[in-house]
Amino acid sequence: MSEQRYEKLLAALADNSEKVERALEGFCSETDEDFGIVMDAERYSLLGGGKRIRPFLVNEFCRALGGDIEASMPLACALEMIHTYSLIHDDLPCMDDDDMRRGKPSNHKRFGYANALLAGDALLTRAFEVAASAEKLKPDARVEAVSLLARAAGDRGMIGGQVIDLDSENKSISLEKLLKLHSLKTGALIVCAAKLGCLAAGFGTDSAESRAAEKYAAGIGLAFQAVDDMLDVISSAETLGKNIGSDKDKGKTTFLTFFDIEQTAAYAGRVTESAKTALADIKDSALLGELADYLLQRRS
Ligand code: IPE
Ligand code: IPE
Ligand code: MG
Ligand code: MG
Ligand code: MG
Repeated sequence: MSEQRYEKLLAALADNSEKVERALEGFCSETDEDFGIVMDAERYSLLGGGKRIRPFLVNEFCRALGGDIEASMPLACALEMIHTYSLIHDDLPCMDDDDMRRGKPSNHKRFGYANALLAGDALLTRAFEVAASAEKLKPDARVEAVSLLARAAGDRGMIGGQVIDLDSENKSISLEKLLKLHSLKTGALIVCAAKLGCLAAGFGTDSAESRAAEKYAAGIGLAFQAVDDMLDVISSAETLGKNIGSDKDKGKTTFLTFFDIEQTAAYAGRVTESAKTALADIKDSALLGELADYLLQRRS
């Protein structure tokens, strides 16, 4: 049933994943006899796994607004590199200490703590090189893209969220603080993806389109993390590609601290509906609407 309902979206996601993976391979094909180990560690996490939701958002916003995905692809790859780095570091023993990611042993399990740390650092740094070399973008748009990526990844974005996440272990925090945590650790990169797509199509951050994209992405970002919290309880390691029960083991504050599964799903549904209203300002947004619904019922 849902396969049928999402047939068009699933085909578009698969097509985009293939293109993104080809482009990512092109960006990380080098090796070196002395430090190739860290390049292997980067490729291990970056290639052959992951839903590629963020690069889809970048390219789909660009396409929906009449842009060429050749222009947005380097930005999509840069963002996926930053996301992958965030996962490598998130799994480290000093953070969530998780042994499985994208269906395989996590990076530090395979390459050791130091190489995993360095592979994450290398992916983060490489992302800026890739974004800065987005040759189909005008110089001012490239600068804006680099600045959007830096802000979303940094202490006022994803890292800020990770700090609150760690600081909230085994502690009681308000729902308001949880929403801030989730909006930063997960929402910031998802919002960035949407804005980068707009930018690549020629719509800067002060345009009505970019503001609508931001509203949509902030909503689906929050819903995405609510579902992630749920899947940590109701999915299986086999389906999810990462161990379940990890949040409880670590004493994390999640949506499940405040709500039961049904209430969490209902909350995610409400923010998704509200997010979708912002798509009225985006021309060809049918797939983006479908994506928002699809992410609510995902199991991996
Ligand atoms: C996992 O993100 C981390 C969160 C922000 C919840 P994804 O669920 O998008 O992970 P991949 O990229 O598909 O592995
Ligand atoms: C991580 O959130 C978000 C990141 C910035 C990586 P989680 O810790 O919930 O992500 P998973 O469940 O390990 O993928
Ligand atoms: Mg975490
Ligand atoms: Mg984690
Ligand atoms: Mg999680």
